Amino acid sequence: MSERSVGGAEQVAPQACFMVVDDEPEVCNFFSYLLKRKGHRVVAAYSGSQALDLLKQNRFNVAVVDLKLPDLSGLQLLREIKKAQPACEVIIITGYSTVKSAVEAIQSGAFDYVEKPFGDIAEMEDLLERALNVRAEMERLSHSHKELGFVVGKNKKMLSLIAASQKIAKKNITVLIQGETGTGKEVLARYIHSVSHRSDRPFMAFNCGAFTETLLESELFGHEKGSFTGATSRKKGIFEMANKGTLFLDEIDSASPAIQIKLLRVLETGDFLRVGGEELCKVDVRVIAATNADLASRVEENRFREDLFYRLDVASLFIPPLRERAADIPTFVHYFLEKETVEKGLPEKRFSDEAMALLEKHTWPGNIREVSNTVAQAVLLSKGELIEPEELPARIRPPQPEEAAEPEEAENAAGAAAAAPPYFAVHPRGEELSRQLAGFEELLTAGLDLKEGFDFNNFQEELKLWRERVSGQLIEQALELTFGNQVKAAELLRITPRALRYHLEKSKEEKA
Ligand SMILES: Nc1ncnc2c1ncn2[C@@H]1O[C@H](COP(=O)(O)OP(=O)(O)OP(=O)(O)O)[C@@H](O)[C@H]1O
Ligand SMILES: [Mg+2]
Repeated sequence: MSERSVGGAEQVAPQACFMVVDDEPEVCNFFSYLLKRKGHRVVAAYSGSQALDLLKQNRFNVAVVDLKLPDLSGLQLLREIKKAQPACEVIIITGYSTVKSAVEAIQSGAFDYVEKPFGDIAEMEDLLERALNVRAEMERLSHSHKELGFVVGKNKKMLSLIAASQKIAKKNITVLIQGETGTGKEVLARYIHSVSHRSDRPFMAFNCGAFTETLLESELFGHEKGSFTGATSRKKGIFEMANKGTLFLDEIDSASPAIQIKLLRVLETGDFLRVGGEELCKVDVRVIAATNADLASRVEENRFREDLFYRLDVASLFIPPLRERAADIPTFVHYFLEKETVEKGLPEKRFSDEAMALLEKHTWPGNIREVSNTVAQAVLLSKGELIEPEELPARIRPPQPEEAAEPEEAENAAGAAAAAPPYFAVHPRGEELSRQLAGFEELLTAGLDLKEGFDFNNFQEELKLWRERVSGQLIEQALELTFGNQVKAAELLRITPRALRYHLEKSKEEKA
């Protein structure tokens, strides 16, 4: 049997043509029943080879394909369908154990997947209708990321990444986002949360790299009163705070082996113990983890638990670096230019053709964050409406003959750039700055040993010197960026030129 119509569907005036491929006849009958009610035509195949035969004889609008077929894998059949009939949308049927493959199918162009056993009939009908009206669906989705401030550009990899993210967002599965620093991992995580069913619940972002092991455990899972020195009251952890919502765990690679075990447990069972606690806490949290490390290599080197990796990596999203989507550089530049001018009520500005050419040529090691910072600096430093090459930071401009460094110096500079810490927001402020400083504070106070000849006065003096050193470094950076122009440097730091001169004088005195 190479073709078999289910339930005589051909007698109904054909609206659209569906193919259902599953070796279980009940599944085919179920879909046939649903679709026939809507007047659609349905043909069923019970193996991959039957489906391939049917593809030669019919044009299908939508194919519903089981991931586990007796002869072919659903993924192989998906590829064959897309090759033979690119306009045919494919819905994958999967069991719980094959969700990861179903997510891969989505990344290879499947419209969506449904999990067996099928629950809500209305939801299923809605899915089938949406697959039929794919154009309207695409249109709707393409607006969602614009509204949420997520610039995608025209790069093919990014377009399929966002399409896959939109579909994955609706599922209650763990997501692992990988990509270099500044590529937008947190932006993507926020986007996924915003288009998920949890969008009206909290989104909590948490950086695992900002804490020591002990603090990390208490920050993640909370602690009971008296569980350690300084634990004066019971404290909720981030998992509890994110209950019913989404928890974004950044720099997941920096979790120690002990924390990894606890994370594995909470992901598997949804429960955990607070530090010093005996009562099991239960939460419903969707975890989105991120890292700019190659987590699979960390697993191979035994630095990251394999079971945790697979738990996190159910849906794997990789954001390509900006240099691999260089055609989108102008889109990002214009986006940030508008943010820095029009949205702040400032006069419009634009980059001269020469300046734009330099921006397009730059390799952007700090990715989108670097573009955002560069545009903000250029807007601040430029005098007129047109931003010229000399108003761009030195790293973007080719070295002028007199600026050209000696070969050895150039090598050192390249080394320093490679080792440089990730780009910081231009003006870390408000919540972000407080969060980072709170991280430092906890690290510092937890690490102090008050018994071992601790000297409070000396401690305060050291802190004061440290504050001055950090301020001094920021002033130096501002002067570097403004080529020594004190007025512009003061503007960049948002202080008066007088305050800047005062700081400079003071640090000169201290050095003398
Ligand atoms: N697609 C995007 N659209 C708009 N803005 C973006 C996009 N991607 C990144 N950005 C901007 O770049 C900055 C860095 O993004 P984000 O913090 O998400 O990067 P990241 O990949 O998490 O970096 P890191 O690895 O250093 O934590 C953000 O402040 C955001 O404004
Ligand atoms: Mg991040």
